[in-house]
Amino acid sequence: MSSESTSNAGSAQTAQQKFTWVPKASEIAREGGKRLREFLAQGVETEYKGDVDLVTIADRTVEKLIRTSLGEVFPEHGIYGEEGTRDRMEGEFRWYVDPLDGTTNFAHGFPQFCVSMGLEQRPAHLKPEEDGTLVAAVIYDPMRDELFTAERGKGAFVNGRPIHVSAIPELAEALLATGFPSRKRHKSPNVHFYHEFTLRSHGVRRAGSAALDLAYVASGRLDAFWEFNLNPWDTAAGILLIEEAGGIVTDFSGNPYRLDSREILASDGKIHSELVGLFENLFAGRDLAPIPTPQEAARLRAIRKS
Ligand code: IPD
Ligand code: CA
Ligand code: CA
Repeated sequence: MSSESTSNAGSAQTAQQKFTWVPKASEIAREGGKRLREFLAQGVETEYKGDVDLVTIADRTVEKLIRTSLGEVFPEHGIYGEEGTRDRMEGEFRWYVDPLDGTTNFAHGFPQFCVSMGLEQRPAHLKPEEDGTLVAAVIYDPMRDELFTAERGKGAFVNGRPIHVSAIPELAEALLATGFPSRKRHKSPNVHFYHEFTLRSHGVRRAGSAALDLAYVASGRLDAFWEFNLNPWDTAAGILLIEEAGGIVTDFSGNPYRLDSREILASDGKIHSELVGLFENLFAGRDLAPIPTPQEAARLRAIRKS
């Protein structure tokens, strides 16, 4: 069950009043989302970026809009955008921007996509390959009008209401999500992981927007998410949301997640070590514990609950 809270509106208000970057970034994300809705309504041509990756005028227009607006409100901040923006990369602050996460969905009119903006603070001594600290996150779903926000140490919210990861204690009772790359998809091993996790949980969703998947882990709608080969513009905002909502984000071995990691595993924290163990065994080619039959699953559930 989602642990999204509708109470506590007063303290949410207080926390949000203390936000430093989120209020202005939220306005920009909402504006970007509005443009995405308009493009969706009018219909857009789809182009190919490389052999299979889709891109539309909506991706490019919204990145331009975000770039211009962020440059106006935070003129010192850097911007690293999926559609090629690389502004002020030497600065202390850097926004990772995905103007349209879920382009394939968007191009087909499947209403699951978002704007994602995550802010990293990078102290002056940091080497280019080192990560700074994620300090602000904004993910906006324009089709549901849901705005997910967080700042480090100030909690995570959806439309102003505090959110928390779920309390699901084991994989057998969990709802998971993953994604598949469009590039080099014939080389992706993920279908094997998808198969195993589907049979060992309540199911695995593949909804097509990694940033929203992460926001859903943060809000307890999903219990875990994993994917290979994501980029910082897909993950930066979602990671901070999950950490502020009480969850954990690592690589598949349980090591701290880095923005250039090629593996991401995010969960409510309670099922994390079980998932890491499965990844370890799958990578090592070991035999896994047999998948319980429905009758065995029911018996085990009864034992757990007693
Ligand atoms: C994609 C989505 C998708 C994930 C892909 C990403 P894009 O981002 O997040 O869910 O499976 O790996 O590339 O291209 O729509 O911004
Ligand atoms: Ca993306
Ligand atoms: Ca994108």
